[in-house]
Parts: sequence; structure tokens; C-alpha cells
Amino acid sequence: MELHGLFFLLFLFTIAGEPVCANVRDRRLKKLTTQANGEFRPTKLFVFGDSYSDTGNNPKRLASSWKTPYGVTFPGKPAGRYSDGRVLTDYVARFMGIKSPLAYQWRKYGQKRLQYGVNFAYGGTGVFDTGNLEPNMTTQIGFLQGLIKEGVYTKRDLESSLALVTVSGNDYSAYISSGGPRQDLPSFMSHVVNQMGINLKVIHDMGVRKVLVSSLQPIGCLPQQTVFSSYQQCNETENAASYYHNQMLQQVVTELNNATKDCSFLILDLFSSFTTVLKNKGDYTGSLKFDTPLKPCCMPTSSDVYCGSRDENGKALYTVCNEPESAFFWDSVHPSQAGWRAVYLTLRSSLNRIYS
Ligand SMILES: *[C@@H]1O[C@H](CO)[C@@H](O)[C@H](O)[C@H]1NC(C)=O
Ligand SMILES: *[C@@H]1O[C@H](CO)[C@@H](O)[C@H](O)[C@H]1NC(C)=O
Ligand SMILES: *[C@@H]1O[C@H](CO)[C@@H](O)[C@H](O)[C@H]1NC(C)=O
Repeated sequence: MELHGLFFLLFLFTIAGEPVCANVRDRRLKKLTTQANGEFRPTKLFVFGDSYSDTGNNPKRLASSWKTPYGVTFPGKPAGRYSDGRVLTDYVARFMGIKSPLAYQWRKYGQKRLQYGVNFAYGGTGVFDTGNLEPNMTTQIGFLQGLIKEGVYTKRDLESSLALVTVSGNDYSAYISSGGPRQDLPSFMSHVVNQMGINLKVIHDMGVRKVLVSSLQPIGCLPQQTVFSSYQQCNETENAASYYHNQMLQQVVTELNNATKDCSFLILDLFSSFTTVLKNKGDYTGSLKFDTPLKPCCMPTSSDVYCGSRDENGKALYTVCNEPESAFFWDSVHPSQAGWRAVYLTLRSSLNRIYS
């Protein structure tokens, strides 16, 4: 593979906004006219993936998501989300009109909340093991299979369910940091995407009606990259890698839809929504504005610490911006609540496709 900025430009013209399943709209129209009540209205959300969707699964004593200043905007204290507030899962649940599903680790304490589904996502994980002890995606899917065996959910429950799957690149950072050769990265990427396809199929085969999978965000626009240009520009070489991943994902999803003869699998295009919001420096309604969108709100005071780090005397080794709602990114890799909200506003029309 050649990694060129050109890929990034091509992307904007070829894929952005393109429906994964052709003729969805036509079919939906037909359905609406022939069976008024036949539309799919999911009542449960099952979530698999990493920190882009985790709402509190990582252990309190280890994860930065449980440290101040995470959660400062919502719920007002650290609560296991990798943001100052809400994350993608919360907005997808809001779109469905349900409460955000309970984090799997709290399932015993929230029997009533189980009616909205369960969030199995763990920050830091990938489709493969990423060098920490948190469950990879296969294991996360196994947790749902376990709940079905226990009788917590029936096959019928799954038929009125939506799954959200996020993969935001931990497999790749683990590959690079473990010294995997750069020239073999493309074949590793295809390995990752193929495993994603296997996972998506397993989720669907369990009976889940619709499976939403995120495309890889433009990784070259994350503050951990833009710091090298004083937060002025994205690294397009890195973005080309996201593009490459997304092309393969698109193909896998197209094949799955073809094989299952319906439009069960949908891509939630984080690449184009991040790109649009970053380019516009805000959401399209104009209610959210990000003046320096490539600069995070929470910044460590040196490169060997993180947002949330403290010294042995408890002194904060990070600074937090005055208005988290005017920052797209919360920390070096995660959007703020306002960032996720802007992304969500961009995704709403494609989320409508779950109803077809
Ligand atoms: C996921 O984790 C389990 C348990 O550690 C391991 O046995 C399995 O091989 C992993 N799966 C993948 C696809 O990496
Ligand atoms: C962009 O990313 C590539 C690949 O990680 C790296 O080699 C290059 O130095 C980066 N460029 C800049 C300007 O940071
Ligand atoms: C779609 O599926 C049919 C068989 O069900 C197969 O013959 C065809 O090659 C598939 N097309 C694509 C684009 O995968």
C-alpha cells in the first residue's frame, strides 16, 4: 500500500455519504406505503468495542476514565467515560429514544436498566488483544452469548435490538508500539478488518436485527498527531491509513449485506463526520463552535503523563480549558461531549437508515 494524502482527498469524493446498501430509501418508501406498522423500532442497544463507546466497564482503580477531570461536564464526576461527558453510545441511545445501556460490569445492580440492552465495550481494546487484560471483541460478544444462556435475553429480544460496534484503532497502536514492521501494516490491517467482519456476522447470526459499525476516524487529526504541528493540521499520511481501513470495511460490509440478503449491516461513518465537523469548526446548525478544533481541552503538562495524571503529592499534571463545550477533542484521542454531539448531529440522517 502507498500511503498518500491523495487517498484522503479521493475519499471525500468517492465515499462520503454514500449509502452502504443501495436502494434502502426506495425500499423504505415501499414498506411505508404497504405496511404502515412494519418498521423496525429497536428497543435495546448492545454495544461492543473500545473507549469511543465504553460507558464505564474498565476497572476504577486502573482506568483514566475514572479519574478527575473525566466526567466533569456529565455526570459531574468521573464515571468511566473517556470524555468530559457523554460519548457516542449515549447519543445513539438518545436517537433510539431509550436510556443509555448499562455498562456490563454493573449488570447485577441495574436489573431494570437491562431492558435497554447492555454496553460490553471496554476502553483500550481491539478486535485482537491489545496488550492489556481487558476483553477483546470476541470475548465481549461471548458475554452477550452468556446472558442469552442465562435467560436474561431471549431470541425475540435480539430481534428488536440494534448493535453498535466501535473500532477506533487500538489494534493498530498496539501493533506499532509492539514493534510490528510498518511495511507489514497493510496486511495486519486487512487481518483486523476481516476479524471485524467475522464478529459482525456472529452478532447478526445471534439474531440482532441491525448492526451499526463505525468507520475509523481520521487518526491523523487526533491531537496525539496534531501536537506536532502545534494543533494546526492533520497528518494526512495517518489519515490515508484510516482511508485504507475504511475501504476494506466498506467491502466487508457490502459482502455481508449481500450474503444476508438484507441491509442488516450499516457503517456509521465517523471518518466523514469527524472530517466535516473539523473542517466547519462546528456543527452544521451553528450551535456548537470549535475555534481550534485540533487542540484538546485537557492537556498533560509533559509528554510522559496524561490527562488525569497526578504527581505523588496529588498535584494535577494536566491543564483543563475553561470551556470544554468549545473544544472538539477532550484529550489526546477522545472527542469531548460537545465533539460527540456535533458528530452525532452529522450522523443523524444516516442513523435513520436503521429504520429501513
Ligand atoms: C480474545 O481473547 C481470548 C481470551 O483471552 C483469546 O482466547 C482469543 O484468542 C482472543 N481472540 C482474538 C480474535 O484475538
Ligand atoms: C505523519 O505520520 C507519519 C506516519 O506515522 C510520520 O512518519 C510523519 O513523521 C508524520 N508527519 C508529521 C508532519 O508529523
Ligand atoms: C452476492 O451474493 C451472490 C450469491 O448469493 C454471489 O453470487 C455474488 O457474487 C455476491 N456479490 C458480491 C458483490 O459479493
